[in-house]
Amino acid sequence: MVDESFNSILTVYRQRVDKALLTHLPARETSGTQLPAVMHYAVTNGGKRVRPVLTYATGKALGLSLDRVDVAACAMEMMHAYSLVHDDLPAMDDDDLRRGKPTCHKAFDEALAILAGDALQALAFTILALNRDPLVSDTAKLRMVEVLGEASGAKGMAAGQAIDLESVGHTLTLDELENMHNHKTGALIKASVLLPAVLSETANAELLARLEGYAGAVGLCFQIVDDILDVVSDTETLGKKQGADIALNKPTYPALLGLDGAREHAENMHQTALSHLEGLGPDFDELRRLSAYIMQRTY
Ligand code: IPE
Ligand code: IPE
Ligand code: MG
Ligand code: MG
Ligand code: MG
Repeated sequence: MVDESFNSILTVYRQRVDKALLTHLPARETSGTQLPAVMHYAVTNGGKRVRPVLTYATGKALGLSLDRVDVAACAMEMMHAYSLVHDDLPAMDDDDLRRGKPTCHKAFDEALAILAGDALQALAFTILALNRDPLVSDTAKLRMVEVLGEASGAKGMAAGQAIDLESVGHTLTLDELENMHNHKTGALIKASVLLPAVLSETANAELLARLEGYAGAVGLCFQIVDDILDVVSDTETLGKKQGADIALNKPTYPALLGLDGAREHAENMHQTALSHLEGLGPDFDELRRLSAYIMQRTY
């Protein structure tokens, strides 16, 4: 059953990150180039903001005030937005529609889309490093930069994207598919949960392991549902082209397990996510509800 009351929590976090993002992006008008405008286009064009929502919900569960979590939430969304801009490029998935609008390289051009992605990635690290929060130690700041770097680079998202592209036309085993999804999508989702945990400087090794387990399962569930929606939804609802995976012969969960098998696997991942939070009191309820939302989402 869809948890309607959770929508208001989502709205609060979404509005919060939307406002915070504007304070970090370069002003559109002050540059001699279109680059800042392309960065704005890539970031402020909607999007579900799932990664920042995870960051805020984890921060709140750990007792952080939300204003202390803004920088980490923005860094996650910038990194994600960059990954989408590059994912849509002709050399990758060659998509024309994203978040209901022309993709960056269609609205501007390929070179500007590549550069806007580069600049968003750099800005994500910069805002973590420049965090003026007087309560955060330099050690924690450095660790946050490290966590985001590992999650987005050759051990994380970029590796997953490389596996995705190299796997086109091949039939992967379930383990190989899971490995690809854990890298391309799971890694940034995990970082969204780990950044506030590092920031809090209170989470012990056991709690960190539980959060990591939770985020790993949620990340996999997220991409399984993305694969399912590519088959069963429609372009208008998704804001991106339905059927793109089949058209590109991408390895996906529905391709390997069928729709019912993929749905069952997503539900199993949701249950696994919940199991990692077992015994952790009501402060963690938003994370539980967020996992359910990710499994039940329709776009
Ligand atoms: C799409 O991510 C790409 C994947 C990693 C599956 P989202 O579904 O979070 O995209 P937006 O941010 O809401 O547009
Ligand atoms: C994209 O996966 C993952 C990243 C951007 C890292 P997809 O290629 O499945 O995402 P969509 O379906 O285009 O949003
Ligand atoms: Mg892709
Ligand atoms: Mg794509
Ligand atoms: Mg997809």
